Order: sequence, then structure tokens, then C-alpha cells
Amino acid sequence: MSAADMPQKDENVIWHKHAVDKAFRSEQKGQRPALLWFTGLSGSGKSTVAGALENKLAELGHHTYLLDGDNVRHGLCRDLGFSDHDRRENIRRVGEVAKLMTDAGLIVLSAFISPFREERQLVRDLLPEGEFIEVFVDTPLDVCESRDPKGLYKKARAGEIKAFTGISSAYEAPKSPEVVLKTDQHAVDALVEQCLEALKKAGVIA
Ligand SMILES: Nc1ncnc2c1ncn2[C@@H]1O[C@H](COP(=O)(O)OP(=O)(O)O)[C@@H](O)[C@H]1O
Ligand SMILES: [Mg+2]
Repeated sequence: MSAADMPQKDENVIWHKHAVDKAFRSEQKGQRPALLWFTGLSGSGKSTVAGALENKLAELGHHTYLLDGDNVRHGLCRDLGFSDHDRRENIRRVGEVAKLMTDAGLIVLSAFISPFREERQLVRDLLPEGEFIEVFVDTPLDVCESRDPKGLYKKARAGEIKAFTGISSAYEAPKSPEVVLKTDQHAVDALVEQCLEALKKAGVIA
């Protein structure tokens, strides 16, 4: 949804500032909130690496939440399809939810193909500087297609899925992501380590 399509805010709806705030909740949890935004082709490894990273963070005693693409389409975004408008609205809602979760002090991980630079920028712009950490799961299309964990590439090649990212719809690779993961060159454990290093460097975890 573009700004022009957005319903107007009611001027009588006023933000209420509460005493237990983001800083308090973050301190309580011993972490700086952040949103790790995994982006990449279907089958690139977003869910696999984000899930393994969340396990590791939980082991370290951190408070996290993983928003996974397919899962939100069962509830929060069940009314949305895959048109450009609906894809954008899907990401906008996820961004707003992730923002609430960072306000709750959480380290949020998200795993959405999110193929368009503009939609990723939209989420980046929702958050304070430095809280959006873009993780490009940079797996070549032929590798993703040979993995085909959900059989979707086979269907897309047979013309059964229209506008499938990488086949019949564009994927715009990030220009300056904070993290680049090469899943065809490194095992999941090493990729998790790479993410942990990035979180330390960003001051999210100690
Ligand atoms: N190094 C790796 N990192 C991540 N996934 C890998 C790796 N090597 C093989 N895979 C496999 O690739 C597939 C990635 O699927 P998935 O995580 O569901 O992708 P996505 O969420 O991006 O669609 C899984 O079957 C996973 O086991
Ligand atoms: Mg996935």
C-alpha cells in the first residue's frame, strides 16, 4: 500500500506513552532489540538458518520471535494473495508487527522472500537506525531449484504457479545488506556463527 492509499489517521487518536518502555524491557532481557530480516529465493535457506539461529539464541538465554513467511499467511495476512499490492501489504503488516515486537524488547527474526528492494526499504524505514539488519541468503537459483524442498520450482516450471520469484517474477538482490550468507559454500552451523558475529558487532548481544 502506498502512503496515498493509506486510510487517514484520526487526529483524536493520540499516542499514549507508558512508563514501562522499550529501554526498560530491553534492559530486563539483557539484549538490544533488533530485526534480522532474512531475504532470498524460495529454498535459499531462510527458514533453515533463521530457525537454527533462533535455537542458538534461545540456548544463550535470549528472547526471540521468528516470523516465518508461510505462517503469517495462515492468520495475520490470510486475506492477502500474491499480487504486487497484496505482497506489499503483507510485508507492511509484518514490518509493523516486527516493530511492536522490537518495542517489546525482542530479537525478531523474519524469513520472507521479500523480493523487492522497495518493500525491504519500507520495513527498514519503520525502525530506528541500526535496528534493521538485512541478511541476504545468497544461494544461486540453480542450487535452490535442485533442493526444491517444497516442490514449488517443479510446479513453477510446469506453469502451475504464476509470478514465482526467480522463474517468472524478479528477485532484486540487496545492494548493501548487513550480512551475506553463502549457503552453497558453508554448513548451517557456520552460517549461524556468522549471524551471531554480526549481532555482536551490532551490539544486539554481548
Ligand atoms: N548450508 C545450508 N544452509 C541452509 N539450508 C541448506 C544448506 N544446505 C542445504 N540446505 C537445505 O536447503 C533447504 C532450504 O529450505 P528452506 O530453509 O525452507 O528455504 P526458504 O525458507 O528460504 O524457502 C533445506 O532443505 C535445507 O536443509
Ligand atoms: Mg521458508
